[in-house]
Amino acid sequence: MWAIAMGRRTIITGIGHFVPPRVVTNFDLEKLMNTSDEWIRQRSGIVERRHVEPGVGTSDLAYEASLRAIQSAGIEKSEIDLIIAATLSPDHYFPGIGVQVQAKLGLVPIGALDIRNQCSGFIYALSVADQYVRTGAYKKILLVAAEVQSTNLDYSDNGRDMAVLFGDGAAALILEPHDAEDGRGILSTHLFADGRHAADLWLERPSCLDKPCVTEELARAKKFFPYMDGKNVFKNASEKMPDAVRIALQHNGLKVEDVVLLIPHQANDRISQMVAHNLKIPLERVVRNIHKYGNTTAASIPIALDESIQEGRVKAGDIIVLTAFGSGYTWASAVLRW
Ligand code: UT7
Repeated sequence: MWAIAMGRRTIITGIGHFVPPRVVTNFDLEKLMNTSDEWIRQRSGIVERRHVEPGVGTSDLAYEASLRAIQSAGIEKSEIDLIIAATLSPDHYFPGIGVQVQAKLGLVPIGALDIRNQCSGFIYALSVADQYVRTGAYKKILLVAAEVQSTNLDYSDNGRDMAVLFGDGAAALILEPHDAEDGRGILSTHLFADGRHAADLWLERPSCLDKPCVTEELARAKKFFPYMDGKNVFKNASEKMPDAVRIALQHNGLKVEDVVLLIPHQANDRISQMVAHNLKIPLERVVRNIHKYGNTTAASIPIALDESIQEGRVKAGDIIVLTAFGSGYTWASAVLRW
């Protein structure tokens, strides 16, 4: 067994993100379905998103983001001792993308763990990595969150509520132990779920409930596209993210005024604004980049974190709060001292 070193925290020593180069604007989507740039901007804040080219998979985006994180950490990739990958859109039904990233990086035979908690996947993965690092089980973890949503959305009028929201992208972190007494690192993670609402946002089929699990009938019924009860998800996201942040702040003896940057999962800009309003955090301290990428699910928070760092919005000692809500339902929060 490993003993947790007194005062040891997990610190982010490297971060990078990668989005596919192809920009798809709201006007591009107008050509495919009965929607409008005005509707999409007003209802979601999204202006454009990225879509992969055919043949590019989630593990390819994850690999590119991982290379950037490794470079940013200034380590050799051979120093990585565990990969944790978060995605709802693996290249294949199984195995997950963790092993594919491992093979692409040439890191056989280190462990590769996949986390499937959709929009909350990044914070769930961060919480797992944090436990491993603080116990000393692993010393340099590559955490990568990546999604390719664009290849399984219904671009007809039936699917327009979801097809306009989601985009492709990836981000990765290197996580290491930090024993210095400067208070930096991950201060807490809090995870929540309510599985009674799984059917509010899910990919219902293929399912092991059917034999065979893939039929023409299911395809004709469009069961292979994701479904969302947008209103219910919106309402719960707007309530549960502030709840999770309040629990996290209380746990750490912090006040809302201590938060330098709040990074909510980028699901809908109206949700982010409601979260800020609910918590009474001024919007200038809330990271909002959904206009550029849409909802990149597990990748949205780490992409936003990396961009915030690049834009000079983060300095040493700052309190950063992350929160997410999504399919499951799952929701979560994390507090970092940068
Ligand atoms: O990552 C976590 C998971 N996702 C989320 O958190 C997203 C949560 N939900 C949402 O963001 C919003 O519910 C949506 C953006 C999906 C929808 O916004 P809304 O304000 O809840 O609109 P609505 O569902 O009430 O739809 C209003 C109308 C409907 O028409 P009728 O029934 O009033 O005639 C929809 O059919 O807008 C229609 N509509 C569209 N119109 C143009 C739905 N999608 C579109 C579209 N373009 N893309």
